[in-house]
Amino acid sequence: MSIVTPWEVEGSIDYDKLIQEFGTKRISPALRERLMKETHEKNVMLERDYFFSHRDLDLVLDDYAKGKGFFLYTGRAPSGPMHIGHLIPLVFTKWLQDRFKVNLYVQLPDEEKFLHKREYTWKGVQGYAEENIRDIAAVGFDPDRTFVFKNSEYASNVYPLLMQTAKKVTFSTAKAVFGFTNETNIGMIQYPAYQMVPTFFEKKRCLIPAAIDQDPYWRIQRDIAEGLGFHKTAAIHSKFIPPLQGVHGKMSASVADTAIWLNDGELAVRKKIMKYAFSGGRETVEEHRKLGGNPDVDVSFQWLKMLFEPDEQRLKKIEGEYRSGQMLTGELKQILVDKLNAFLATHRERREKADVEKFMYEGKLAQKMWETTYEA
Ligand code: TYM
Repeated sequence: MSIVTPWEVEGSIDYDKLIQEFGTKRISPALRERLMKETHEKNVMLERDYFFSHRDLDLVLDDYAKGKGFFLYTGRAPSGPMHIGHLIPLVFTKWLQDRFKVNLYVQLPDEEKFLHKREYTWKGVQGYAEENIRDIAAVGFDPDRTFVFKNSEYASNVYPLLMQTAKKVTFSTAKAVFGFTNETNIGMIQYPAYQMVPTFFEKKRCLIPAAIDQDPYWRIQRDIAEGLGFHKTAAIHSKFIPPLQGVHGKMSASVADTAIWLNDGELAVRKKIMKYAFSGGRETVEEHRKLGGNPDVDVSFQWLKMLFEPDEQRLKKIEGEYRSGQMLTGELKQILVDKLNAFLATHRERREKADVEKFMYEGKLAQKMWETTYEA
């Protein structure tokens, strides 16, 4: 049994079943090849099936080939510091932007977090947003093609478009898709309209890279977009980076020790992986040497496989040695610790240097949004 909604991911996730339930499509080997061919570069997140599902990605590539172009949109709700799972869709988005040279909008729905849980205060969320924006800026997007905005700050610019969107979605649809009840506050009930709005920022097809938990918004968007004179949005969905404690569910911001945070120091990363990362190893060293470990349930191996060991041969070697018992759990964990610390050190350095203003400046891109807003 598993639950996957924009606010909750639990249990053992059957990704094939999710594709069926959500009505998305698996990225076929041919489509994956086409995307990598178009970009002239292989991508480990595609090759390893971490980005595994889509909506209309083929049409996005058709539009691109015909010279119509497309644009990118993604987001982050400021619920606290960011963990590795939050950064990965952004890293993939940057890859797409670098290759296709397209515009990107990054939404920070501060009001979503404020409305979602009693314990979030308005002021607290603003602080998280400020911190998160630095992490986003550190990813290295093209400043001339990227606009990062906080929902509360940008609201007056999108208000007409937001209302046009909200008018098209009934409470019964929102209830069915998001599980809202009579106890849900009415701010939250309107929120989904704002998450759809950036898909209407340009009169081109929008492509959204995110984990599959965000897909319910896109399902509604696709029902109403054409009626508003826009394209149905396209999406490319990733799996979840599993929590340290096991291969089920997702690394979660609400359970601190399930995650590696972007502000975790080297020692914290080591301690956490050594203490919490669920291991496929045996009880004793002797048993492990004799019977071997199980990389399929080992979280450190799964993280290496999903993203952190891009070298295919090295990954195969690690897998073989662990399965045969030649490599011990502590050794496997150390490989991941080194990879993570190198990744985080680079991120920290970029974060220090990041020029946030460049991305939030309401320049050319924002102007375009205004125009679409009032045309619709
Ligand atoms: P949020 O802040 O929960 O998550 C931000 C992004 O990170 C992805 N994600 C993960 N990916 C892999 N492994 C995980 N363990 C993991 N946990 C989270 C999410 O899918 C998301 O892409 N409502 C949104 C914010 C938002 C948004 C958007 C997201 C506004 N507009 C457009 C994507 C696209 C939210 O709460 O995301």
